Amino acid sequence: MSAASRAESLREQIDEANYRYYVQDDPQITDAEFDALLRELIELENAHPELRTPDSPTQRVGAIASDRFAPFEHARPMLSLANAVAPEELRAFDERARKVAGGDVAYVCELKIDGLAIALDYSDGSLTRGGTRGDGRVGEDVTANLRTVKTIPLRLRAGAHAPAFVEARGEVYLRKSDFERLNAAREREGLPVFANPRNAASGGVRQLDPALTAQRRLSFFAYQLVSGDTAVRTQWDSLARLEALGFPVNPHVARAKRLAEVLEYCREWEERRDELDYEIDGVVIKVDEFALQERLGVVARDPRWAIAFKFKPREARTKLLDIAVSVGRTGTLNPNAVLEPVPIGGVTVKSATLHNSDYIKNNDIRIGDTVIVTRAGDVIPRVVGPVIGERTGKERRFKMPDRCPVCGADVDHPPGEAMSRCTNAACRAQVYERVRHFASRGAMDIEGLGDVMAAQLTELRLVADIADIYKLDGAALTHVPRMGPKSIENLLRNIERSKSRGLARLLYGLGIRFVGTQTAQVLAGDFGTIEAIAAAGEEELQRSEGIGPEVAASVVLFFKQGANRDMIARLARAGVDMTAPRRARASDGPLGGKTFVLTGTLEKLTREEATQLIVSAGGKVTGSVSKKTDYVVAGSEPGSKLAKAEQLGIAVVNEDELRRLLP
Ligand code: IVH
Repeated sequence: MSAASRAESLREQIDEANYRYYVQDDPQITDAEFDALLRELIELENAHPELRTPDSPTQRVGAIASDRFAPFEHARPMLSLANAVAPEELRAFDERARKVAGGDVAYVCELKIDGLAIALDYSDGSLTRGGTRGDGRVGEDVTANLRTVKTIPLRLRAGAHAPAFVEARGEVYLRKSDFERLNAAREREGLPVFANPRNAASGGVRQLDPALTAQRRLSFFAYQLVSGDTAVRTQWDSLARLEALGFPVNPHVARAKRLAEVLEYCREWEERRDELDYEIDGVVIKVDEFALQERLGVVARDPRWAIAFKFKPREARTKLLDIAVSVGRTGTLNPNAVLEPVPIGGVTVKSATLHNSDYIKNNDIRIGDTVIVTRAGDVIPRVVGPVIGERTGKERRFKMPDRCPVCGADVDHPPGEAMSRCTNAACRAQVYERVRHFASRGAMDIEGLGDVMAAQLTELRLVADIADIYKLDGAALTHVPRMGPKSIENLLRNIERSKSRGLARLLYGLGIRFVGTQTAQVLAGDFGTIEAIAAAGEEELQRSEGIGPEVAASVVLFFKQGANRDMIARLARAGVDMTAPRRARASDGPLGGKTFVLTGTLEKLTREEATQLIVSAGGKVTGSVSKKTDYVVAGSEPGSKLAKAEQLGIAVVNEDELRRLLP
């Protein structure tokens, strides 16, 4: 192929990819693939400048603005960044900068937040306009939507003496935790789920109804001050200035005196990226001195004073070999992708979630397709969608079976619900999941009754529901392969011991929908006995902290089932403790009224044990750090909660110090 026709073909592919990504919000190729196409075109045009056309995608900074919003003209173009994927490219970048500077160059290293870039204008301290980047010259005016983002200041801090006009730029993003919550809610409501936080954020900013943007709970980090504040002469100082004006600035920015420190920062954050509650896809390295930035200038679409170091992609394409359906604890039929193994960000991915049949249908995913798979943070891999261009016509559409693949019972798919369910409560797959959950560490903690044993007990039909666990005896257990007298004795002893775990862990172990460890603790503490909970109505349940209508309805429904009541009666007859110590009221107990947050892995205690100790001393354990938090208990590899605590000046204790706070 001639260079000219290759360039034309690359342009077509890039234009198409841009259109799918920005206008349709439905990318068909991975970011890494896109970058590779663009790089090839840039190189080709550099080698053959006569091939460069004014409408080449290399001449444009980014996206096409759709016509749904009023245009937002940027007074100064919003540039994009050249990418580096290898340390050598950073070295070349540094050499160029040092040549122009005539000596060492200082840099600012920032995390590259995976969201979308926006510009915010303030007049006399008030937010007047906000827009997306668009193609760098003209974006979309999304002011009303951006006003709903809680971390975007509507007024600048008065004490900071804001100049008459301020323009700040930064990234709107969605926290991983908010993303999980959003997708879980959408899945419950039968709405399509988002492939990643960035797509959800980008869709959120471009909602036609600002109330819908508000629901997404978007966040913001500022990283560029564009106003004419002449006192600020470096990127580092402008970050400090942004902070003083009231903008959220990422706490992990760092100054680097030389390239070695830059490389170290990149290496460190590629390793630590999962600790953060937001997605980052690289590091942005900026020349610190504005004067030097100016001398380095801009070439084509990229500044020569900044570069993006991109982490190894967490997206890949592979073949969808099959769709396997497994049955969950509550009988849900879960479709899972069986993939041709593919390495993604250091692990080999062989399977991924497909959520439910609507997800498969809405994304037109077919067996045999080439698909895009992402692995975001610690979240399970997810199939984003098919690469339509790779279709051969041999792909097959998936149909959810109308009989349970495990027990053959009818499958129910209530209209309006996302999930199909096996209707047989005695289905082996459901029993297995329930037994495994009941015996797990956070629940009744029966050592020796893990995944394998739970599978064997249900396969051999020694256990048909969780109460049957307490009927097991030496004679029954001799049927289990590879169980000698010693292991039988141990298992029976551990089962016996589990009877005294108390109401909270029992409640959690029952696997009632929406009742996690914390909800179980609250209910156990407030009601004291299982009879009291079973007898409570929805309204009474909702008087407990954190129990909403959905949870209350689920608890009531559980105790309404004859089969469940019967099972609980059998557990009681077996001698399982169904009571909880009365909860110390806020004022009693040494930790009365104190709020704790746990983060990281504790050495001696499980999370459940630590929670129990705190609660029984009158304290409370919540999931996220806020101004109301009194203590953060940090174990090894703590997450972003620790950083947040430090930011808010909240007391951080380790496991031993927690012990000392307890009676
Ligand atoms: S600086 C010329 N800083 O990455 C300066 N960008 O291609 C341009 N991004 O469009 C931006 N975190 O959406 C900058 N700390 C950061 C960033 C960042 C994320 C995004 C932004 C930009 C793209 C670069």
